[in-house]
Amino acid sequence: MLDGKKIVLGVTGGIAAYKAVEVASRLRQAGAEVHVIMTRAAKEFVTELTFREISGQPVASDMWAPVTHWNVAHIALANLADAFLIAPATANLLAKAAHGIADDMLTTTLLATPAPLFFAPAMNSRMYGHPATQQNIATLRSRGAHIIEPATGHLACGTDGPGRLPEPAVLVKALDDFFRPEKTLAGKNVLVTAAGTVEPIDPVRYIGNRSSGRMGYAIAAEAAARGAAVTLVSGPSSLTPPEGLKRFVPVETAAQMREAVLAVFPAIDIVIKAAAVADYRPMTVAPNKIKKDAGEITLRLEKNPDILRELGQRKQPGQILVGFAAETENLLAYAQSKLEKKNLDFIVANDVTKPGAGFNTETNLAKLIARNGTVEEFPLLSKRELAARLLDRITEKNKAEL
Ligand code: C5P
Repeated sequence: MLDGKKIVLGVTGGIAAYKAVEVASRLRQAGAEVHVIMTRAAKEFVTELTFREISGQPVASDMWAPVTHWNVAHIALANLADAFLIAPATANLLAKAAHGIADDMLTTTLLATPAPLFFAPAMNSRMYGHPATQQNIATLRSRGAHIIEPATGHLACGTDGPGRLPEPAVLVKALDDFFRPEKTLAGKNVLVTAAGTVEPIDPVRYIGNRSSGRMGYAIAAEAAARGAAVTLVSGPSSLTPPEGLKRFVPVETAAQMREAVLAVFPAIDIVIKAAAVADYRPMTVAPNKIKKDAGEITLRLEKNPDILRELGQRKQPGQILVGFAAETENLLAYAQSKLEKKNLDFIVANDVTKPGAGFNTETNLAKLIARNGTVEEFPLLSKRELAARLLDRITEKNKAEL
């Protein structure tokens, strides 16, 4: 499950820092892209060079170093992480994280990331048992952080008790388990559309839009990981189709997308239309490349079919339709009216003008509106994490029908 995942590994200054080297190595062997952030104290135990060689990536630690790789490193790392593991997490780091202190590269990145957090506390037993530390751990847990319990045994400080960093395999397994969803969609047929359609003007030019396909591909990947038989119908995208799909249907135009979607629709349980379908297409496509000596030209556009609306009209009991509404104003009102007009069960609304939301970003900021009017607002999440939350809700609220 770690293949292709971007893991940020925060290493703090405890004797167990040496074990983090093996954690980085195992994560990489499992196919993850590993980015290490070290605190100053961590560098007293292990060198930056070790982590750089093991991870194959530059190591971040100094906020003030000249920029060589990341543009504003803590924000870049915060945004790219699919998961964030801090191992070992010292008492000091836990305290800072619990209180939102951001005074170095690691703590600053921790505050800026929307990724799920995993802390592996490792320290002297008394420090671990201290009410301050326990309270900090409870605070982090209450915010949704995952705490990987320390092992009990002989500690480097000469005592025995809880506080040992678990073996690297245990830490890697915790992340792997996190990305391994339950097969809640086993036996279900899911149709996802993604990316933008392109509408030709002549053999070399087209009308397109800024959709990258990331949101739809993330939904398809997550649904497949949950055991669904997924058909992904995609406009042109630079992304590699996720593994484990039942069918991948590449299309270019809205008309082709419509055909592909209608062909499979009768057998589909859940449709999620994340594609940015062009609303208009050129009325005629020039058979040859239009020459620039044509002077001024006028393109006449005609309306494309609204695929989702058609699905809404054909929908049978038990079929669930989910649309997307990318808006730049009046988000909820427009989204709600689309839900009604198109006879949807859910609509995912995002204001594409908000930072971190919408097209061509790794993250998204969205609201899920259900047919009964309930609105659920998600925080800024990676698109995969948002896909997981959306599928949780969509399947949970429709258990009866599913
Ligand atoms: O009306 P609007 O285009 O904003 O609605 C967006 C939703 O409708 C998306 O889920 C999109 O995939 C779908 N859509 C469609 N066919 C169109 C236009 C939009 O299926 N021609």
